[in-house]
Amino acid sequence: MCQVIDEPLQLPHMFPHEFADLLNARGRRLIDSPQRFDVFHKRGETPVIVLSDLIDDATAKRCIQTLDQAFYPLLRRMHTPIPREAITGMKKNYSDTLRKTVRVKTATLNSRKSQALDAGRSTGLSQMMESQSFLRFAECIVGAPLNDAHWGRQVICYERGDYSGPHNDHHPESPVARNGFVDLHIMFSNDAVQSQWLVYEERGFLSQSHEVGTTSGIAVYRLPFWHYTTPLVARPGREKDARRWLLLGSFDFDPPLKKLQY
Ligand SMILES: [Fe+2]
Repeated sequence: MCQVIDEPLQLPHMFPHEFADLLNARGRRLIDSPQRFDVFHKRGETPVIVLSDLIDDATAKRCIQTLDQAFYPLLRRMHTPIPREAITGMKKNYSDTLRKTVRVKTATLNSRKSQALDAGRSTGLSQMMESQSFLRFAECIVGAPLNDAHWGRQVICYERGDYSGPHNDHHPESPVARNGFVDLHIMFSNDAVQSQWLVYEERGFLSQSHEVGTTSGIAVYRLPFWHYTTPLVARPGREKDARRWLLLGSFDFDPPLKKLQY
């Protein structure tokens, strides 16, 4: 008689345990000899930067394959639609208000019991997003020390039409983040993605934009400020395949900022 043994799915360690090893020579140079990025230091600038060409395409494709195999089945829908009442409950002309609306899929790596964390361990993704060079990279870009004791980690996946509506990521109730915090986005799009734009405010207008639907990219934000992403556009005929993956680290400043940086 044959016995069926429930063995955990074995996945290859596709992510390096140190984030620096995901980067090419140009990317590693940003850690080894940090340069100053004015947007994080000059008044009036929006503190965000989108960097490309720091991860080789072959590496990005391997990461996408691993994320597809190990994480896609574990993602949960994060759908916050426009509430009907935003129109039906409106009593005054021009009093429109819209909270953050969003349609993505996501898995958090923060909860110890989550299945995503198991997948994170067996693929090396968790180790990479906990590594010192992951923290160090964010510190080098913003040019300030960040809390090395703990940071948030999440995996997000955008498919055709998925987007995040305008929001600012301000956390006025958080004693450590109320004056600002840092998001680090490691981004991978497969070849079925045609485009997706990050739009953000510049001196009071949502007038700046940046293509983020590239094979790989790294964005660093010092939040809060207003921003959104446009609906992901797939290449014609590839609508079902299009995916943009986003590995998100959220860091607090150490010490926390004294005044709101906005
Ligand atoms: Fe955001």
